[in-house]
Amino acid sequence: MHSGLRGDYSRAAPDYTVAQDWGAYTGEQHALFRRLFERQSRLVARYACPEWIEAIAGLDAGGEIPRFERISEKLRARTGWEIAAVPGLIPDEAFFTHLANRRFPVTVWLRKPEEFDYIVEPDVFHDFFGHVPLLFDPAYADHLHEYGKGGLKAMRLDAVKMLARLYWYTIEFGLVRTPAGIRAYGAGLISSGGELAYCIDDPAPKRLDFDLESILRTEYLIDRYQSTYIVIDSFAQLMRDTAPDFTPIYARLKALPVLAP
Ligand code: PHE
Ligand code: FE
Repeated sequence: MHSGLRGDYSRAAPDYTVAQDWGAYTGEQHALFRRLFERQSRLVARYACPEWIEAIAGLDAGGEIPRFERISEKLRARTGWEIAAVPGLIPDEAFFTHLANRRFPVTVWLRKPEEFDYIVEPDVFHDFFGHVPLLFDPAYADHLHEYGKGGLKAMRLDAVKMLARLYWYTIEFGLVRTPAGIRAYGAGLISSGGELAYCIDDPAPKRLDFDLESILRTEYLIDRYQSTYIVIDSFAQLMRDTAPDFTPIYARLKALPVLAP
């Protein structure tokens, strides 16, 4: 089942969690994490949303690969979330169950130096730098909790593919309007050396308003920069626009053709 994935799943619990084993990271790995963090930190001030910037400032992270337990302590106090250490990508049901219990799965391994700019699977840098800071924002945190519960429901309705598109266009590659202009909140953007500036500065991609049904119907690109980004007004809007019962929407959309990105 996990052939092709590079994490070590042999010691994972039934819910796919592992011990982070922080002491096993090498000095070279901490230094690589620090270099990734520094490169990206020069970009986020200009391109990341204010909620992300505010949260990272309170974390005192960046000097080394973070100790998940310390971050979880702060998270629990703020929004009731915590980090669950995992070997890498995990099956849908385990992933949704963690989110539905306010646990965010974070991969324990770090990319190799030659993957500095591009990596195929999420590693600890993407998961931590991209996803974790926004869990400190109450509206985002509540939305992701609802998404997890919605994921378990989508499994029962055979609609995970549709729901995954929503995650892709928001949690991974979403943009948000701010008084200073459009900013990124998607983790795939915030952790990317190239796409973070591209998604905001480049005139080529489309930037569309959030429309639930079109998102659920639209496929996405996994091997190059996105051709379309979805711009929300706020996390409160995201929460509001995803609050309706998706059951009849899934049923209706299943009869319609899927749209190209
Ligand atoms: N409202 C969705 C449903 O009924 C659940 C959901 C909430 C999905 C938030 C995504 C985000 O299935
Ligand atoms: Fe991600």
